[in-house]
Amino acid sequence: MWPNERLINMFGIEVPIIQAPMAGSAFSDMAVAVSEAGGLGSLACALLSVEQARRELETIRRRTSRPINVNFFCHQQPRGDAAREMNWRGRLEAYYVQMGLDHDAAVLTSNRAPFDEEMCDLVLEFQPEVVSFHFGLPDKTLLARVRRTGAKIVSSATSVDEARWLEDQGCDAIVAQGYEAGGHRGMFLTQDVSTQVGTMALVPQVVDATKVPVIAAGGIADARGIVAALALGAGAVQIGTAYLHSPEALISPIYRQALKDAKDNETAVTNVFTGRPARGIVNRLMREAGPMSDVAPEFPLAAAAVAPLRAKSEMAGSADFTPLWSGQAARLSRALPAAELTKLLAEETLEKLRFLQIMASPDMLAQAAALATVGSRRVSR
Ligand SMILES: Cc1cc2nc3c(=O)[nH]c(=O)nc-3n(C[C@H](O)[C@H](O)[C@H](O)COP(=O)(O)O)c2cc1C
Repeated sequence: MWPNERLINMFGIEVPIIQAPMAGSAFSDMAVAVSEAGGLGSLACALLSVEQARRELETIRRRTSRPINVNFFCHQQPRGDAAREMNWRGRLEAYYVQMGLDHDAAVLTSNRAPFDEEMCDLVLEFQPEVVSFHFGLPDKTLLARVRRTGAKIVSSATSVDEARWLEDQGCDAIVAQGYEAGGHRGMFLTQDVSTQVGTMALVPQVVDATKVPVIAAGGIADARGIVAALALGAGAVQIGTAYLHSPEALISPIYRQALKDAKDNETAVTNVFTGRPARGIVNRLMREAGPMSDVAPEFPLAAAAVAPLRAKSEMAGSADFTPLWSGQAARLSRALPAAELTKLLAEETLEKLRFLQIMASPDMLAQAAALATVGSRRVSR
C-alpha cells in the first residue's frame, strides 16, 4: 500500500510515521497513542532518571503491545571549564541583577545525561523494538549489548558523512535530520551550523549514499511534507513539532501558545540554552545572548546558569528564558490528539499519493517515456 515498505516491515508498524522522541515534552501517553494508531511511538530518555524511565516504560508496555522506540543522547560528558563557566555567568549577570537572583541559588533541574550502563540495563529489561540515539552512537560495548537484544538501531545524521559513518557502525536505519528540524541538531562530526543541510537536499543525498532505509525529519507537519519525503526516497518520516500541539504533549501553556503563534521565520538555531545547537522559537535570551554564543559552556553545561533565570521568569508567566524547541513548520499542524493526528496524516498522505497517481494519466506517462528517449539519444550522441 505504501510506496516503500522496508521500514514498515523492519519496525513492524502499519504507517510510516514515527513520533519524534522529544525529551522533556513527550512521555508514555504520546508514545502509546502513536503506537496504538499504527505509527512508531517514541520515549526520549535524555531528561529522565533511570527510575523515571523505568516507570514510563512500564506504563508503555502495560498499555500497548505494539512496537516502540526508546531514545537516548550519547554525547561525551564534558569535564567542565571554570574560565568558560565564569564568562558565561558574566554574560548572564545583568539578568541575575535585574531579577534579584543570587548566582549561588540552587535550582533543581534535570540534566541531559548520556546513555550509560544503567540505561542499557533498562533496554535489556524492556527490550524495545527500536532503540535510537542522538549525537552519534554510544561506545561499542554498550552498542553491542543493545544489538544483542534484537532491537533495531537508529541514529540521526545531519550530513552524508554522518549518515555513512552511522551505516559503517551498523545502524539499521538513519534519520536524515534537515536544518528545519526542531530541538537539538543530531550533528556529531561537526559543530559548524552554518553548513547544515535542509531536509529537501539532505534526504535524497543520504538515500543515494547509503543502503539502509532513511527516515526524513525536519519541517514535516502535514501530508504534503510526508508525500514529498517519500518522493525523495525516505521510507518513513519522523515528526516532532506537529505532535507538540497534541494534548498528550506535556508542555506549559506559554510554550503551547508560542507554538500556535510561531511564524515560519520565527525560529532559529541556538546554543544558549544547553551549549549545543538546537532550533527553537526566538525569545529574549536567544535574541540578546545568541542565537549562537561563543561563551556558552559545552553541552549540557550551559543549562545550569540559565536554570534560575528560567525558573523565575516562568513563575511570572514569561518564556523569555525558556527553550521553546520548535521546527520551522509549527504553524502547519493541527491541535489533535496524537492517535487522531497519526491516522489523519496517514490517510491524507495515501489520498495525495492516489491523486498523484491519477494525475499521472497514461498520456502523461507516454509523454514522459518519449522525453526519456529523446534525452537518451542526446546523451549517446
Ligand atoms: C521539543 C523537541 C525535543 C526533541 N528531543 C529530542 C530527543 O530527545 N531525542 C532526539 O533524538 N531528537 C529530539 N528532537 C528532534 C526530533 O527527533 C526531530 O529531529 C525533529 O523534531 C524533526 O523536526 P520537526 O520538529 O520539524 O518535526 C526533539 C525535537 C523537539 C521539537
